[in-house]
Amino acid sequence: MLKAVVFDLDGVITDSAAYHYEAWKQIADEMSIPFDKEYNERLKGVSRLESLNLILDNGPGRDSMSDEEKEEIATRKNEVYKELIKKITPKDLLPGIGEVLKACKAGGLKTALASVSKNAPYIIDRLGVGKYFDYMADAAKIERSKPFPDIFLDCIHALGVDPSESVGVEDAEAGIAAIKAAGMKAVGVGSPESMWQADVVLSSTAELSVEVFRKLI
Ligand code: BG6
Ligand code: MG
Repeated sequence: MLKAVVFDLDGVITDSAAYHYEAWKQIADEMSIPFDKEYNERLKGVSRLESLNLILDNGPGRDSMSDEEKEEIATRKNEVYKELIKKITPKDLLPGIGEVLKACKAGGLKTALASVSKNAPYIIDRLGVGKYFDYMADAAKIERSKPFPDIFLDCIHALGVDPSESVGVEDAEAGIAAIKAAGMKAVGVGSPESMWQADVVLSSTAELSVEVFRKLI
């Protein structure tokens, strides 16, 4: 029986994935490293520092700078990103998200947020949807980022449910891989090419529903 649904944030609850791209694009341009939306797909769901490594892989290589320099660049990216997310309001919930969160609660399902972003609490606050989550993972305490299952396992343990009774919702390849590695059912939102491992892929968040989740278990 379905007991819990675990949601990713960036690109699922709101379109902050676009802001991550905008901020990294600015940084990549400054470093004269080619970076476009296609390459950006690899960064989705990946930690801040690993995202920078992936960008460097497309230029001088991840070993071309010291950890201190990387830290400085990642902090600068985050400053740009933080400016962009100040604009977020409750109107920026992706289509159907408010409805599906309410339906999960009405249907007696437990819910959690599995975002590796350290900005997640701020964004959830801006969107005004904190009350719909029984648990929000603390990105600072998650050792291995997606595609490792750690953050999803942390969520289901906190909710006190079994992976086999849980569904995860993601918009990125690394996220779907993390859900599957946790032994859960995976719902992908977005392009099927990057989410071939998902149990079902929907083209829009507007198609998410408790019925879609229940059918998977
Ligand atoms: C994930 C995003 O949710 O969070 C990644 O998909 C991002 O693109 C990661 O790198 C870390 O986010 P932040 O806000 O801590 O830099
Ligand atoms: Mg995402």
